[in-house]
Amino acid sequence: FKKVERVVCVGAGYVGGPTCAMIAHKCPGITVTVVDMNAAKIDEWNSDKLPIFEHGLDEIVFAARGKNLFFSSDIPKAIREADLIFISVNTPTKTYGRGKGMAPDLKYVESVARTIAQYAGGPKIVVEKSTVPVKAAESIGCILRDAQKNCPELKFQVLSNPEFLAEGTAMRDLANPDRVLIGGESSPEGALAVEALVTVYENWVPRERIITTNTWSSELSKLVANAFLAQRISSINAISAVCEATGADVSEVAHAVGCDTRIGNKFLKASVGFGGSCFQKDVLSLVYLCESLNLQKVADYWHGVIEINDWQRRRFADKIIAELFNTVTDKKIAVFGFAFKKDTGDTRESSAIHVSKHLMEEHARLAIYDPKVPKSQVLYELGLQTSPADVEKLVTVYNDPYEAAKDAHAIVVLTEWDEFTTFDFSRIHASMRHPAAIFDGRLILDQKALREIGFRTFAIGSAPDQAYNLFGTSGY
Ligand code: NAI
Repeated sequence: FKKVERVVCVGAGYVGGPTCAMIAHKCPGITVTVVDMNAAKIDEWNSDKLPIFEHGLDEIVFAARGKNLFFSSDIPKAIREADLIFISVNTPTKTYGRGKGMAPDLKYVESVARTIAQYAGGPKIVVEKSTVPVKAAESIGCILRDAQKNCPELKFQVLSNPEFLAEGTAMRDLANPDRVLIGGESSPEGALAVEALVTVYENWVPRERIITTNTWSSELSKLVANAFLAQRISSINAISAVCEATGADVSEVAHAVGCDTRIGNKFLKASVGFGGSCFQKDVLSLVYLCESLNLQKVADYWHGVIEINDWQRRRFADKIIAELFNTVTDKKIAVFGFAFKKDTGDTRESSAIHVSKHLMEEHARLAIYDPKVPKSQVLYELGLQTSPADVEKLVTVYNDPYEAAKDAHAIVVLTEWDEFTTFDFSRIHASMRHPAAIFDGRLILDQKALREIGFRTFAIGSAPDQAYNLFGTSGY
């Protein structure tokens, strides 16, 4: 394999776009082309308004685009010219057939492998960046080897290079990764291909942070990393229920527990549950893998992480209904935040969708405000969960949080956007129906200050406010 001078990434999504922008930014000697079958998305990448929001992404794309960073719909040409090809397409949970609701759907990955086999024309390093189950590289390799039979000048090496960026901090994570993981074959050709990719990352990542392993360890490590992260959230969320029932405070418990350096204090914040396109999908993928390997105990263990997450969302919605005097029918409820986390416009698997759905089933009227999620996306997500008629009847999307809260019986915080902490809650309280309640599903608001204004407050993982109860209002 020659020195990598031309990189192509198939899949211009949340991973492909930012990752390639960073490679182009850090490696002026490499030409990077991002391709996608969705031509409209490519047009957006070539426009002034990029299809995804990440802090720092616009600057890097606008500076490199047209120099050594290109977005194109001509997939065959890009593949023909590339030395190294990232496969960065989506691998969603299957919605049909065998493994429905559990296994990742690998049809997009396979389709890219076939396209590479068809158009390669010469030697290529093919890199799985998509998150895939263990042994996916074998399937890709099998398709590529078959093409080699008819065309001896073709030569392929398949590497695993899973991506660990987190949406919301993608550019920071890419610029300064905890580690880069590259898995490959142990053969001399495999080692050369691994070294070629190492050389790309070495342009900005210190060598000691680039880990090289065998292919299967690399594929499995990505699933395990997401499973451990999701497990931390489900663990603290499980404890949040114990706190609410006992008078302990989950933030205090998390702090005390996290001070133990063996445990660590990151990713220990209780909430209304994790969302995003990856955690649930990847834990389910691990569970499915374990079931396929007849490791039912292991599968059950990890499935518990998902069960707690679903339960936490339901529990939070039930709490809202119970505390609004057991009925939300026809009540206006302001929902602050719809993205699955702050600093992204991504709503895939957002807890807000699930809580909203539960409230809509009780015929609440939702007034939704999110600083980054467009109205069409909110309506689309909720339409998938309920019916377009229900969405039409029960959901209004606002551009102004004060308008969303006006005449509402309650505010429900479902994303931890920083701006929510800066709102004038006295003004909001005055405009609401009374008694006005706030349900903080992200632990970002100052409960005491809100109570002083006159709100009834409920936060995940803290017990009923005793002082407040003395005055005879409902139990918080
Ligand atoms: P995405 O859905 O944002 O983007 C995938 C893109 O691939 C889409 O634009 C789609 O049109 C394109 N595509 C699908 N099949 C194609 C084909 N045959 N030819 C050309 N283009 C095709 O997905 P996202 O979020 O970028 O994820 C990609 C992979 O990275 C997934 O496996 C995911 O699990 C993984 N990942 C995602 C992270 C995230 O934060 N979103 C983080 C780490 C890994």
